[in-house]
Amino acid sequence: MSASIRARKPIGVFDSGLGGLSIIREVRKILPRESIAYFGDLAHLPYGIKSTEQIRQFSLQNADFLVRLGVKLLVVACNSSSSAAFKWLQRRVPVPVVDVIQPVVREAAKVTRTGRIAVIGTSATIESGAYPRALLELNRRFQITVQPCPLFVPLVEEGWRHDRIAESVVKKYLIPVKNKRPDVLILGCTHYPLLKPMIRKVLGPGIRLLDAVKPATEEIKSTLIRLGLQTGQRGDGKMHIYLSDRPRNFIRVGEQFLGEKLTHVHQVHLS
Ligand code: DGL
Repeated sequence: MSASIRARKPIGVFDSGLGGLSIIREVRKILPRESIAYFGDLAHLPYGIKSTEQIRQFSLQNADFLVRLGVKLLVVACNSSSSAAFKWLQRRVPVPVVDVIQPVVREAAKVTRTGRIAVIGTSATIESGAYPRALLELNRRFQITVQPCPLFVPLVEEGWRHDRIAESVVKKYLIPVKNKRPDVLILGCTHYPLLKPMIRKVLGPGIRLLDAVKPATEEIKSTLIRLGLQTGQRGDGKMHIYLSDRPRNFIRVGEQFLGEKLTHVHQVHLS
C-alpha cells in the first residue's frame, strides 16, 4: 500500500470504556482532519481490577479488531492497558503504537522542581509498577509516591464529581499523598481528569496536576509526522465508535468526555 493511501486510514484508539474519549477530544482539536476509529471494550470493563494476563488478552483482541479495520496507528488510551500491555503489544501488531504513560512521564520529568512525583491510578496500573519504572528510567533520583484510587472511576461514571461523597473519597486517598509533599501529581487513569476540580480543592494550589491528554496527543501528532502518516484529506475527519457491549450510560457520560455529540456508534462482537 502506498504511503499516501495509508495516510488516509483512520487512527485506531481503544480503551476499556469511554475514558479514552478525553484523548479523542484533544486529537479532534489538534488534528481535525484525521479520522478516528474508537473501540470501547464495555464487555470486559473495568480493566483496572484485572490481572496483567487478562488485560493483555483483551488489549490484543481490541488491537486486532482495529488493525483489521485498517488503522494506520494504534493508540492505547487506557492506563491499565498501557501499563500491562504497551511494549508487549508493540511486538504483536503491525502498526505503530502510542501509549498514555510514556508521554506524561516525560512531561512530569520536565516540570518537577523537587523530584518528588506522585502517581495515582487504578489498582492494576499501580500494582504493575509501570509509572515508577518509566520515571526512574529518566532519573534515578526521583522520589515517587504511588496510590491506587479504585473508587474514582465509579464516582465519575455516576456523575458524582462535585458533591460531598466525592470530596470525602478524594480526601481519603489523597491526604496521605499530599503529606509526602510531591510537586507533581500524575493522574494516571482516563477518568481522573474529570475529578480535577475536586482534586485541586483537596490538595490546594501547590501541586501541579498532570494528565495524559495533551502529552499523548502531541505524541500522536509527532509520530504521524515522523512516519509520514498525516492525512492529506481536506475537511473534517470522521469518527466511528465501536463497542463490545450495549452502550448503557456510554452515550451520556461519553459526551461529557468528548465534548461533542456521539453519532456513529456501533455494537460489535469480537470472537
Ligand atoms: N480506562 C481505565 C484506565 O485508564 C479505567 C477504567 C477501567 O478500570 O477499565 O485505567
